[in-house]
Amino acid sequence: MTGPGIPRIGPEEEAELLSVVRERELSRYRFDDHDGTARMSKVARFEQEFRALTGARHCLGMNSCTSALFAGLLAAGVGPGDEVIVPGYTFIAPIAAIAHTGAEPVLAEIDESLLIDPADVAARITSRTKAVIAVHMLGAPCDLDALGALTRDHGLLLVEDCAQAGGGTYHGRHLGTFGRFGAFSLNVFKTFTAGDGGVLLTGDDDLYETAFALHDHGAAPLRMGVTDGPPLFGLNLRMHELTGAVALAQVRKLPDTLRTLRANREKFADAIGDLSGVTRRPLHDPDGDCATVLAYTFASAAMADEVAGRLGTITLGRSGKHNYANMPQLQPGRRASPTSGTRRPDGAAPRRTYPPGSLPRTDDLLDRTIALSVGVVDSYLGSGVGIDVTAGDDAIEAAARLFRTTVGDVAKAAS
Ligand SMILES: Cc1ncc(COP(=O)(O)O)c(C=O)c1O
Repeated sequence: MTGPGIPRIGPEEEAELLSVVRERELSRYRFDDHDGTARMSKVARFEQEFRALTGARHCLGMNSCTSALFAGLLAAGVGPGDEVIVPGYTFIAPIAAIAHTGAEPVLAEIDESLLIDPADVAARITSRTKAVIAVHMLGAPCDLDALGALTRDHGLLLVEDCAQAGGGTYHGRHLGTFGRFGAFSLNVFKTFTAGDGGVLLTGDDDLYETAFALHDHGAAPLRMGVTDGPPLFGLNLRMHELTGAVALAQVRKLPDTLRTLRANREKFADAIGDLSGVTRRPLHDPDGDCATVLAYTFASAAMADEVAGRLGTITLGRSGKHNYANMPQLQPGRRASPTSGTRRPDGAAPRRTYPPGSLPRTDDLLDRTIALSVGVVDSYLGSGVGIDVTAGDDAIEAAARLFRTTVGDVAKAAS
């Protein structure tokens, strides 16, 4: 059970990996001369090619998306006393990254698109708000027009969590290039993978330089003959050269992976057809959606639960640390990070907690929604059934028939 990158691993990844091992160069720096010759490191070449694909000004490979979010937020100046708005339906990683900067995560509702609701974000802005994280959940772009206008009007940073939407676009422009920075994941459930790994994209020279230093012990970008960057304490969040080798082969396949997923999504949705009382998730830009899942929202949570149970899957409301209500870290009495404590830095008021029921619209939508896999087969996410990227027409038709029949049986039993 993985994302679409894993089944597409083949001779290309093998060749890139073999050349790293044969040359005995396991760090991005050994041959990092950046002159475009064969001696350029795999990590640097991956950065170059992902930058070219997305049109971003800067691309920085890291060891995970969580690291990219953390370094990016720190580099953008997010810290104690700040609030950062993030949706209640997300993976826990962006909330963790906010908490570890010392800032306070503020959770917002999603709307029918299962993505952060710009109107609810607007209602949660305070004098402390510093940033908004648009999490492009389940492969689909957020409403970036509305979020862009809102953050511009209020002088806030827009950040994009593109972990689940690698290669996705919004009205023709690549995700990750709208915000001050965008963060991507290369873990096994993503559209392109190296097992683990992350990427930060930004158009901001200062943020790139600071994020680079944070990810590598204070080094200047690419350690081009010097090792000192901004005088700050960095960590080691670097991408390994073996990771870079696989990531390079995978990024070259990404456009074709997405073409396959999008074609399969349409065939799958057409084969399912219209179902009474069930609504397909509306998308802000269907052409830019990565098509990793097809999500259907039912008229009632009871019906969604029954259908999910018969199919051997779960509703999104029950999906692990993706729904805020399933995150013990957000419940009263818990500390979000070892250092953040439960009070704000000025001691003025306790930090917010989010027991189940705190975001009623999010609760309602997630409890009524089932995600069928098109390419991300992940039971923890709630997309454990459906098709995978290798599915042919027969498999697509069979999966559609099973869903249609199950929905019909449950509706009949309920009437
Ligand atoms: C929305 C989202 N953000 C961030 C992450 C974290 O990615 P990584 O595992 O690369 O740290 C994930 C991982 O599943 C995710 O789904």
